[in-house]
Amino acid sequence: MKNEKKELIFDIQELDRRRIARDLHDTSLQNLAHLVHKLELAFKYVDVDPVQAKLIIAVVQQNINLIIEEIRNTIFNLRPMMLDDLDLKNSISWLLDKQKENSEMKIVSEIDDILFKKESDSVELFRIIQECVGNACKHSQGSCVTISLKKRKDAVVLHIKDDGIGFDLEQKKEKHFGLLIIKERAKALSGSCKIMSAPNQGTEIEIKIPVENVK
Ligand SMILES: Nc1ncnc2c1ncn2[C@@H]1O[C@H](COP(=O)(O)OP(=O)(O)O)[C@@H](O)[C@H]1O
Ligand SMILES: [Mg+2]
Repeated sequence: MKNEKKELIFDIQELDRRRIARDLHDTSLQNLAHLVHKLELAFKYVDVDPVQAKLIIAVVQQNINLIIEEIRNTIFNLRPMMLDDLDLKNSISWLLDKQKENSEMKIVSEIDDILFKKESDSVELFRIIQECVGNACKHSQGSCVTISLKKRKDAVVLHIKDDGIGFDLEQKKEKHFGLLIIKERAKALSGSCKIMSAPNQGTEIEIKIPVENVK
């Protein structure tokens, strides 16, 4: 029973499901619950103070648009659909452009054209980059994140570095699976994963994937 549980915890799909459930719970669901209260309030005001009721409804309308965007992002995280139409390099540049729109951080990238033998490997790598860049923008409070993806003689090397506040690697956060999933995805690519960080020293992640995986 104990072993079964351990296996479950390290299953990528299970971790993904938990992350998505948490994303939905922390954002869209909480915001929707909040809007229900606002609408109840607007309902009370309708007859006594219609102007106030209209103001509340206008805020609700705005917030619903934000929730639509959040749900769009969550769906996007389920399946990076553009990988069906674009190659990995263009998909990554699409992702970084999207991230630039939502973040103050400077994003610098140098991406080689890499064609994996297995299509699913591209999705794994794409997701790793998505999580690393997302973490840098969300948590680091830094000014710049650099992403380099290079095909070297012996390995494909992904390197992501930010100049932010860093964090204590020993301090595990419950219900935060992003870093764990990165490690599991690196394993799924038969690769290695090094995460280097310390308070006020920025964060650096290096993933090495065997060159045999690519064409
Ligand atoms: N680039 C980073 N800079 C600073 N802190 C980070 C960075 N990446 C991760 N962290 C810290 O590690 C924690 C765990 O990250 P992660 O496993 O991706 O979960 P989540 O992003 O859902 O919080 C984050 O909550 C944050 O405190
Ligand atoms: Mg994360």
